[in-house]
Amino acid sequence: MAHLTNEEINQIQKSADIVNIISSYVDLVKKGKNYFGICPFHDDHTPSMSVSKEKGIYSCFTCHSTGNVFKFIQDYENVSFLEAVKIVAEKSGIELNVDFRETSKYESMYDAYDLAIKYYQNNLKSSLGHEAHKYLNDRGLSDEIIDEFEIGYASKEIDTLTKLFLAKGYDEETLINSGLINRGKSLYDLFRDRVTFPIHNPNGKAVAFSARIYEKRDNEAKYINTKETPIFKKGEILFNFHRARNEAKKLKKIILVEGQMDAIRVYASGVKNVVATMGTALTDNHVNMLKRLNVDIVLCFDADSAGEKATVAAGELLQKYGINPLVVRLSQEKDPDEYIIKHGVEAYQNLIDHPLTYFEFKKSIFSKNKNLTKAEDISKYINSVLEELKKSNDEILIESTINGLSKEFNISKSTLMKKFDSLDVKPITTKQKETVKLKKKRISLENDLCEKMIFYMISDTKYIRLYQQELSYLPISKYEEIAADILAFYIKYNYINMADFITEERDSKYLNDILEILDDNINLELIDNDFVGFIEKIKEIHKKNKIDDEVTDIKKSTDINEQLKMLNDLIKLKKDV
Ligand code: CTP
Ligand code: MN
Repeated sequence: MAHLTNEEINQIQKSADIVNIISSYVDLVKKGKNYFGICPFHDDHTPSMSVSKEKGIYSCFTCHSTGNVFKFIQDYENVSFLEAVKIVAEKSGIELNVDFRETSKYESMYDAYDLAIKYYQNNLKSSLGHEAHKYLNDRGLSDEIIDEFEIGYASKEIDTLTKLFLAKGYDEETLINSGLINRGKSLYDLFRDRVTFPIHNPNGKAVAFSARIYEKRDNEAKYINTKETPIFKKGEILFNFHRARNEAKKLKKIILVEGQMDAIRVYASGVKNVVATMGTALTDNHVNMLKRLNVDIVLCFDADSAGEKATVAAGELLQKYGINPLVVRLSQEKDPDEYIIKHGVEAYQNLIDHPLTYFEFKKSIFSKNKNLTKAEDISKYINSVLEELKKSNDEILIESTINGLSKEFNISKSTLMKKFDSLDVKPITTKQKETVKLKKKRISLENDLCEKMIFYMISDTKYIRLYQQELSYLPISKYEEIAADILAFYIKYNYINMADFITEERDSKYLNDILEILDDNINLELIDNDFVGFIEKIKEIHKKNKIDDEVTDIKKSTDINEQLKMLNDLIKLKKDV
């Protein structure tokens, strides 16, 4: 099996544009030389993460996450280093003549899904899938959309897919773990006689299916979905996320619907910034995925009361993450799919362009089934509104709502304020996803000098040469070893840069120290004269240390001749300082 060398990995690093790669996960805005975005590695509210194209690294000034493009992918996607290299290569359109099968233990599961998709797609186009195909077309899904969403048909046969897999040499355990095949008396296909919708992870890899009946059937679930597997966690997947992400960033908005048919309909109508929760409650994981986009979130769930409840649940969760979603409630039709079929996409777009704020939506719920000309209902309504309001920290919202209520119901502001103040409701505090690493040990002068020297040396080979000529030691062994690694890198490759040095040190026990040094000094300007100053200071420290050692040795010694010799050395040392 071809083995990927560090040179090849460095080549990938060089060809990949870190700004491009990271901006496929995080919205980046250029400011001066660098790009800034919401850091995905802590609960960030203002853009704390900077990305330097030139240096090939990112760093967050709040949580101090730092690294090269591979480190970003490793931490973001929770994958191994080699998987991260592969993802970067794929995203950069770099062909790798390397067999990665070994590097990802799930690779054959992904392959199995790709094969199953092709197989189901073929079925749909064959006579076997005639009725299913007709069903989809009758629902207004064109063949183009069927192809784009890779919709297929799992036939009635009990084990045709199983046989195909076995013929191709797939391993039984893998197939069973993938959720495509099951074992009864013998192996059999899990999806049968259903329309199949592939579900993808954020990287665009198919990891599951949702399969629908295409005619009325009693006692059978409308949809059956792949069970949770190592590559499919329902709470971590939003249907259509990989297709919608870029459009959402462009439009600064993402629409969240309940069903995949809704997402497909909305998308097929040209509104491509849409994802679906697939009928499950929104999870913390979903919120983190959405939050990283740094765009408005529009909740557009089904019109029924379950949809209303889901909207409230999603809204409360989003607020805990500091996000105030926008809300569209459909009247007349049951879901976005049916709405667009009846009223057209322009009417739907118009709804999306004029959403309620989450607070307005909550007010509309409070006013339901109330007669707002009756004092009792007014009192209940105002109470609920004030309670909701009290969760907010937004002073302008608070004041304008109280003004509005005062006018609407002819109640004095002071009465409303008194009521508001007396309510025992706490403002929502936002959730920390990860506790932010606390900033750091206090750095001693020696530490600081060593770290700065290391930073210079990782930034430019001329400092490596200066170090080698003038010093070639550091007063703290950890830093001396890192400096030796830098020198070794330079000798091996005849250049240096931060991104590739991080790759080289990926398994070093000093990796975190190195990342910390880069993070601490990232805005340091390289000045030759300063570097010379560091060298002199370190020489000075070195001598002082030697003198101290000598003094203790003299004190310890009992041999008068030895003492005399050491005193002579000491005098020489002191003259040099
Ligand atoms: N769902 C499911 N299993 C079911 C029913 C629903 O997994 N037995 C999920 C599906 O992902 C579905 C979503 O919940 O897309 C919303 O359900 P529902 O509103 O009933 O389905 P629709 O999206 O309206 O689907 P369709 O239009 O095809 O009937
Ligand atoms: Mn529907």
